[in-house]
Amino acid sequence: MDKIKYSIAVASGKGGVGKSTVTVNLALSLVKEGRKVGLIDADIYGPSIPLMLDTKDEKPKVVKTETKPKIQPVSKYGLKIMSIGFLADPNEAVIWRGPMAASALRQFITDVIWDELDYLIFDMPPGTGDIQLTLTQTIPLSGAVIVTTPQEISLIDARKGAKMFRKVNVPVIGIVENMSYYLTPDGTKEHIFGEAGGRKLADEMNIPFLGEIEIDKTIREDCDRGKPIVIGHPESNAAKVFREIALRTEETLKNIVPSEGKNPVIEV
Ligand SMILES: Nc1ncnc2c1ncn2[C@@H]1O[C@H](COP(=O)(O)OP(=O)(O)OP(=O)(O)O)[C@@H](O)[C@H]1O
Ligand SMILES: [Mg+2]
Repeated sequence: MDKIKYSIAVASGKGGVGKSTVTVNLALSLVKEGRKVGLIDADIYGPSIPLMLDTKDEKPKVVKTETKPKIQPVSKYGLKIMSIGFLADPNEAVIWRGPMAASALRQFITDVIWDELDYLIFDMPPGTGDIQLTLTQTIPLSGAVIVTTPQEISLIDARKGAKMFRKVNVPVIGIVENMSYYLTPDGTKEHIFGEAGGRKLADEMNIPFLGEIEIDKTIREDCDRGKPIVIGHPESNAAKVFREIALRTEETLKNIVPSEGKNPVIEV
């Protein structure tokens, strides 16, 4: 991890709120800003990164090094990527217990050739249970980005997620509100999942608010075809918002983690 400036976990409490979507678009926005970015799919039980980046048929190469064989990450759109999805059959369930998942994740950090990186971003699995806690304590993190929808049921879990990171001394960089509104053809914003819940949660917990992403069919379609919207439709409003979120993340991270420090890993 010495050659990695900042490591970021993208997490939520609740499933399906758009963590993976935010992760890939955030990572690619940083690449477009000229940063060197690596992405680890920490969702060992339900990896979605290979699909979202159209790399599901890729097999990372194993190369010899002076000490031991190491894994070459898969490259796409300027990103370096590692996922269990490259190694396991996508149709078979991974039935590892928490410590095995943590061990796989640890190997994604230690046994993969990342070289110099400005950011290593982790797409976390949903929830705040034992597995998430173990993973959080396995990865040396500079900070966490919490994704939520404006809906109360998602905010409750997002709050739990933010508290989990604080408990293990990982600073929360900010909150991203996803699926904030739907822009109707006549130009009005329809707040399908409620209004401004993410911003209120950020205020309540004294956490920076990083931005709001609208509900847009193109976001979903582009992810499904493996070409996230910041690549597929760079001129779209969502792509612009993702860029702003990336810049805000970068700025906030510099302020809250002044040195190139990381959360010391607590042995589990
Ligand atoms: N702003 C958006 N507009 C339209 N569709 C979206 C948006 N954000 C996410 N989606 C879609 O919603 C679905 C769930 O998103 P995603 O897989 O990123 O969620 P997740 O939080 O990573 O889920 P999990 O908890 O299973 O890991 C995907 O099909 C994605 O394309
Ligand atoms: Mg996901």
